[in-house]
Amino acid sequence: MKKIHIKTQNEIEAMREGGAILAKMLQELKSQAKVGTDIWDLEQSFLEMCRENNVKPACKDYSMHGLPPFPSGLCVSINDQSVHCFPVKGKVLKNGDLLTLDTVIQHKNMFLDSAITFGIGNISESNKKLLDTAEKALYESIKVIKPGINVGAISHAMQNVVEKMGYSVLENYAGHGIGKNMHEPPEVPCYGNPKDGPEILEGMVFAIEPLVCENLNLLEHSNHWQTKTADGGNFVQFEHTVLVTKDGYEILTK
Ligand code: MF3
Ligand code: CO
Repeated sequence: MKKIHIKTQNEIEAMREGGAILAKMLQELKSQAKVGTDIWDLEQSFLEMCRENNVKPACKDYSMHGLPPFPSGLCVSINDQSVHCFPVKGKVLKNGDLLTLDTVIQHKNMFLDSAITFGIGNISESNKKLLDTAEKALYESIKVIKPGINVGAISHAMQNVVEKMGYSVLENYAGHGIGKNMHEPPEVPCYGNPKDGPEILEGMVFAIEPLVCENLNLLEHSNHWQTKTADGGNFVQFEHTVLVTKDGYEILTK
């Protein structure tokens, strides 16, 4: 099993600062996203905020598993689009859309990862329920974090919240350790049993991300990175970077 890095005090301090910057940027982007907004403008606004805050948009040009470099700083998904979709110029938000913004920044050599999903204009009751459930899955799974549990306890809590409402979680993508790299061991799957996976220790940091499908968790791929649900159901995602503390956790991207 690959070693899980325990963060130093200096690394934790840098991640706290970066987390606060990322949280503010996502809230600012949320306030800019309205009916009629071109999602390319959100990407431009994000890159501008990265320059102002002296942080690096870490998704841009990121490459993994032999995929071509990721083309943008933001992952932007609308409705049935799922993980790792690109913002494209001319794609305009409509009333009732569900918009996911997922991104990673690098601050003082440390990576921070966070995602939010929200509605554009007025959204349907069923989409409200889907959003509430995915957000609840994030916070319920974070709540169980403390030294001594196994990673599977996080996954299990997440899966429970989602499946109780009749939705499904992605199985081919997962949360992850994070710090000096965007993706570090261990994987934090969206499903599992409480005793699965490695034991959690103080000073570890995880990107916790419920990846929730309204219907089936089957995806179609296009252009290498981009995905959408095979059955056309909506997809939503919430994500925080979370530090394990002496007796619990601290959400760094809040
Ligand atoms: N939260 C996403 C993940 O962990 C962020 C990906 S950025 C990308 O996969 F560059 F890989 F797209
Ligand atoms: Co992530």
